[in-house]
Amino acid sequence: MQQYVTRGGNPLVGEVEIGGAKNAALAILAAAVMSDEPVLIENVPDVRDVSVLLDAMKRIGAHVERIDRHTYKIDGADIHTLSVDYEFISKIRASYYLLGALLGKYKQAQVAFPGGCDIGSRPIDLHLKGFRLLGANVEIEHGLIKAEADELKGSQIYLDKVSVGATINIMLAASMAGGKTTIENAAKEPHVVDVANFLNSMGANIKGAGTDVIRINGVESLHASEYSIIPDQIEAGTFMFAAAATKGDIMVKNVIPKHLEAISSKLVEMGCEVEEFDDAVRVVCSKELKSTQVTTLAYPGFPTDMQPQITTVLGIAQGTSIVTESIFENRYRYVDELSRMGASIKVEGNTAIIYGVEKYTGAHVSSPDLRAGAALVIAGLCADGVTIIDDIYYIQRGYEDFEIKLRSLGAAIEITDSEKEIQKFILKTG
Ligand code: EPZ
Repeated sequence: MQQYVTRGGNPLVGEVEIGGAKNAALAILAAAVMSDEPVLIENVPDVRDVSVLLDAMKRIGAHVERIDRHTYKIDGADIHTLSVDYEFISKIRASYYLLGALLGKYKQAQVAFPGGCDIGSRPIDLHLKGFRLLGANVEIEHGLIKAEADELKGSQIYLDKVSVGATINIMLAASMAGGKTTIENAAKEPHVVDVANFLNSMGANIKGAGTDVIRINGVESLHASEYSIIPDQIEAGTFMFAAAATKGDIMVKNVIPKHLEAISSKLVEMGCEVEEFDDAVRVVCSKELKSTQVTTLAYPGFPTDMQPQITTVLGIAQGTSIVTESIFENRYRYVDELSRMGASIKVEGNTAIIYGVEKYTGAHVSSPDLRAGAALVIAGLCADGVTIIDDIYYIQRGYEDFEIKLRSLGAAIEITDSEKEIQKFILKTG
């Protein structure tokens, strides 16, 4: 079993290049099967969730050609199966985007009901509400969601809760429905806008993405396109907070600084300097970190996907901080792991009260999920001594070459496969 092993203490210094946004890529790749012509997609991150989705797409008959590590040509002309197996849905929830994509294109699709997840209950009622309002008959039988319609008709859809997944899934189906659809209280995340831009590049007619009302005029078919995915705001934010934790000085390149505003503001409140360039941000943290208060919110609020990282860094800031998680109810499972490293954090419901400690100390911990895993790596990079992190496959779901990028910034981190390799790392870095 692979593990990360880190020795803390090295400030991160240098430049790091951010890859394409995982959560945009998952929706855009699924959407690509809606065209019967080849679609070229660039800046696809090489992460595990993307590979699983591509396998699911191949299984239903999509042609997937890897042009290079980050570029794929997808052709959905020969899709022969409108059913996505449980095997894929259980590995990655986002394969449910194939439901919206196939329903839009073929007016029929079925996917396994997404199972339990690691960050709290994750219902999909709003996705299904949207499909039903578009005229689909949606049934849940024997663990499968079956959606079909003689024809899809544009509709007015109000989302009772802001949901990235529901906004995107409904946008996919509605792009090829007859007439006009309005999605109200839509999610405004950068990747929602990216998916809309991509669909428009294939001939869809979507307006208003990035605001809370999205208007879609359905079209009959979607055509060939070439598209490059936006940079990953969460990967960028993770490196920015790793710089803060280690009192570093890094230039985070290939980003859209506007997408990072909530993250940058919190770093500034904590005493770091953040300088914005056209497509880069520099983060310098030389002073003692200060406490602050954070509530996770839908974009443009502070992202829930950065909550474990900021909590971890606040754990070594002066004073008491309060973090409120308003999106997912079970996103503090890493706090017990962090406590083994000396953190003093009390979780009450969706609030974490963080009493800053002077430093973390290395320990053997395990990642409970993707972002929490990345947060534990950050803790390991600033801890005294050696930290071993188990279950790193979660981290590999969403971060490409995480340890390689961190090493290029001066971190002492390696992937190890055995006790012998861990001992070798300890000797080498000791
Ligand atoms: C997306 O999940 C991301 N995943 C998550 O990233 C991210 O944490 C989340 O958005 C919030 O930004 C992908 O894009 C693949 P939601 P999603 O629907 O779409 C409730 C990561 O680490 N809700 O915006 O599943 C839901 O319970 C991952 O990269 C309903 O009630 O999130 C939650 O409280 C983890 N009914 C809120 O809405 C529904 O039908 C927001 O969830 C759908 C959602």
